[in-house]
Amino acid sequence: MLAKEVVQQLLGDKKYLAKKSEGQAYAPSNIALIKYWGKRHQALFLPWNSSVSISLGDKGAQTNIKIIQADQHQIILNGNPVSSDSMFYKKVKNYLDLYNNQLPFIFEIKTVSTVPIAAGVASSACGFAALCLALNDLFEFGLSKEQLSILARLGSGSASRSLWDGFVEWQKGTEENGMDSLAKPLNVEWPEFMIGLWCFNTNEKPISSREGMQRTVETSKLYKAWPTLAETACEEMCVLIKKKDFNAVGALAEANALMMHKTMHDAKPPVNYWQEQSTSAMEQVRQARKQGLDVYFTMDAGPNLKLLGQKKDLERLTASFPEVDWVSPFNQVM
Ligand code: PMV
Repeated sequence: MLAKEVVQQLLGDKKYLAKKSEGQAYAPSNIALIKYWGKRHQALFLPWNSSVSISLGDKGAQTNIKIIQADQHQIILNGNPVSSDSMFYKKVKNYLDLYNNQLPFIFEIKTVSTVPIAAGVASSACGFAALCLALNDLFEFGLSKEQLSILARLGSGSASRSLWDGFVEWQKGTEENGMDSLAKPLNVEWPEFMIGLWCFNTNEKPISSREGMQRTVETSKLYKAWPTLAETACEEMCVLIKKKDFNAVGALAEANALMMHKTMHDAKPPVNYWQEQSTSAMEQVRQARKQGLDVYFTMDAGPNLKLLGQKKDLERLTASFPEVDWVSPFNQVM
């Protein structure tokens, strides 16, 4: 099945008209505590396992979209026009092409991102979620948020989780067309829970997550164990979040991230996002824990770390990790 057919199933065949002069939406970035790694269907972004994330409040993407009379889409990112030759432009264009039948227009898309682009801080997640929601704001598709998360997924898998604040589960689903592969909020308020962004490297990563996960699925022997282990971890994580068991959540998130990176390191040739700074940062977290500070890390398809901590420890966390930017997802919910 093609992604275009999924759009057609959700939006029908009709041509939509803009309901206002400009659509706009904000979507938070999200950090997975149980990772999505590997697709069972490329074009539909259907994952081998379910995943759980925490959204980052006011760190995300704000997108404004309007119809223009031009021969190609205009994309403006953080105030700068994006070249139509760039990978970024092509990804957005490919996404908009999925809607060609229902929305046969040329758009101007202005996005302001408060997360570093392509540094493993899930900029594509909030970017595609905000784009999908901005289209919905402009044309009023009349879909549920869960259905919109299917549309967001067609831009980037992790985007399906960026439609809500707080903890979100993306259920992998089993249907071939992916109509049951969608995200849902866990509806847990946990004001103590904090995420620390430890960005030591904001350069474009050498290998995209898309490419990295594909190579891992195709060539890593260790990956064979991943779907089942990650699925069990996901169920366990949802239970632990509901119990607000911080140490168990942290330990499981850290173990899951390490397991994901082991599957990558076993790919041929290896997919490696670790840099010296990443490993020394991991060691610092372990040392802080030995000294009685409840802190854990997770790491995505980039060299940077994200820490998990609690508000009651903020002073110690800031003293131990002075470069970390702490986000309090439940104290600034939009
Ligand atoms: O959706 P993508 O292509 O940005 O892939 C995300 C992959 C990870 O960040 C490594 C894990 C995740 O679940 O966000």
